[in-house]
Amino acid sequence: MSRFFDLVSKPAREMSSYLPTAPARQAPADTQPRLIKLDSNENPFGPSARALEAMRSALAATHTYPDDDCTELRRRLATHHSVPLEQVLVTAGSTAMLGLLCHTMLASGLNAVTSERSFVVYAMAVHATGAQLIETPMREDGFDLDAILNAINEDTRIVFLANPNNPTGTVLDADAVDKFVAEVPGHVVVVLDEAYYEFAVRFAAQRKVEYSRSLDYLGQGASVVVLRTFSKVHGLAGLRVGYGLGPAELMAYCARMRDTYSVSSVAQAAALAALDDQNHIGRTVSNNAAQAQILGVGLSELGYRVVPTAANFLYCDVGKDASAFAGRLRGEGVSVRALGVWGAPSCVRVSIGTPEQNQILLNSARKVAGAS
Ligand SMILES: Cc1ncc(COP(=O)(O)O)c(C=O)c1O
Repeated sequence: MSRFFDLVSKPAREMSSYLPTAPARQAPADTQPRLIKLDSNENPFGPSARALEAMRSALAATHTYPDDDCTELRRRLATHHSVPLEQVLVTAGSTAMLGLLCHTMLASGLNAVTSERSFVVYAMAVHATGAQLIETPMREDGFDLDAILNAINEDTRIVFLANPNNPTGTVLDADAVDKFVAEVPGHVVVVLDEAYYEFAVRFAAQRKVEYSRSLDYLGQGASVVVLRTFSKVHGLAGLRVGYGLGPAELMAYCARMRDTYSVSSVAQAAALAALDDQNHIGRTVSNNAAQAQILGVGLSELGYRVVPTAANFLYCDVGKDASAFAGRLRGEGVSVRALGVWGAPSCVRVSIGTPEQNQILLNSARKVAGAS
């Protein structure tokens, strides 16, 4: 008989937990051969060199608590994005900001809306509050904004738009989002999740489209929260630092709900240093754009359907049991994400790695494709 089933809250009882990818090596003595991790959309070049230097310096002061308000980092972000300081809230990764927004705005009886096959943390953050997540069907592997508008009701408080979307890599252009934001009713906050912003900007320039005018909405007083993170282009996923930019009053409510001292001093120092590390950002984004092309062609040549990406990963339909496919690739030493739990049992998500990693992935995929 379970001891705690009747004691824990209803959301805790009913929620499903996050399915993590293969854990990265933590212990130096670990003798496992190194797995090529192309399963979590991390930066294949590692952390920004400037961030590493800042982290080393910050280590000596880790006996004191961090600045709970992340004052210096918030100031720098406010200047960087030309927004008032009160509109910036730094959190332990942008997923923590998602959790804060949900805890601040949702409760049982209320709901949030997003698309099916989007970032899994939306469901977790919403369900943890006892609220419901309404997921609308996709249109051509991307968000169907009309369907989302239609799904909004009087109990809706949040709409999540992952732009680009994880796992499909599709993007909504600035005109589409402008129109959407103008049409969303006043009782709903639109969360524009731009975790892959820098990658999307590069792809948009190549494709001669305008990607995002998200920060303009803040100046216009719209009920929009923009999410950004240091986990992707800056290569600091393991440190957990991200932020939200939104209406000052809402950010202040969210700040009340924060865990105390949740962003470490090392993370704050690293983020400050990484923000302007243009060498690292430029190298990462250029590699990603070039390798997306090579990897996309290579996987298409194997007969797989690859959706054009605006992010640092490819959504690829391998036309059969993707979990078995991913398992075989893993046997070759490469980890990719099978998307069965996203409702796409024949698809995998492949993070774009270094040229060497991508070649190994393609060679392994050829082997796996040839064997099946
Ligand atoms: C759409 C989207 N938003 C947010 C995140 C999470 O970022 P963070 O590491 O800042 O919590 C991810 C990470 O995969 C993502 O795909």
